Amino acid sequence: MSLKSPHTPVLAPSILAGDHANLVSALRVIETTDVQWLHLDIMDGHFVPNLSFGPATVKSLRGSNADLFFDVHLMLSRPDKYIDAFIDAGADGITIHVEPDYDVAGTLKKIKEAGLKTGVALNPGTDAEAAFPYLDDIDLVLVMTVWPGFGGQAFISDTLGTMEKLSKRRAEIGQPFRLEVDGGVDLKTAPLCKAAGVDTLVAGTAFSRAEDKAAFLTEIETA
Ligand code: DX5
Ligand code: ZN
Repeated sequence: MSLKSPHTPVLAPSILAGDHANLVSALRVIETTDVQWLHLDIMDGHFVPNLSFGPATVKSLRGSNADLFFDVHLMLSRPDKYIDAFIDAGADGITIHVEPDYDVAGTLKKIKEAGLKTGVALNPGTDAEAAFPYLDDIDLVLVMTVWPGFGGQAFISDTLGTMEKLSKRRAEIGQPFRLEVDGGVDLKTAPLCKAAGVDTLVAGTAFSRAEDKAAFLTEIETA
């Protein structure tokens, strides 16, 4: 069974590692490269032990950039309550976690009916199988490669098995969802993920630290 992705790899920089008093400046830096995706990490201080920013910030960022694909990752206990706000803010895709207790399928349906791309996210301790019931209807599966909440953590290599299971399943069912990883992704860990079928690479710390962002983009997408 091939672990090759049907998609061209993309880098999705996360601005979580940026200066939160001036996130637009992080966006301006991203615009100097050929990056096409922007990853937006939304945290509620409940599902994860940290707070980040909300729909008003996403809306302002949207107002300052019409071209990037806004890949919104909701780390919330009740994402279903905030879908309308993030649709209104200009998200292009919304990814929700399977772990909390809410109507996951109904929430995905709502996102899809609004014309956005849909995704489900799995924490490092969650089995790949937890995503299987949704695979026929979604555009992306996000495998967390750190426990969500903070940037700058070390990549958890046990999650490679989850990626492999999901890419095998993708080939078996012929459903070409994107496979995304998030947390501790850099030029060392990206090739391991890509060998497991990953095509969408979130990078916060590694991207913000890279002196030559355009070179980092090329290296990570071709690694
Ligand atoms: C972790 C966030 C990540 C984070 C990745 O909770 O979901 O998107 O920004 O940051 P790095 O690349 O620093 O691990
Ligand atoms: Zn994220």
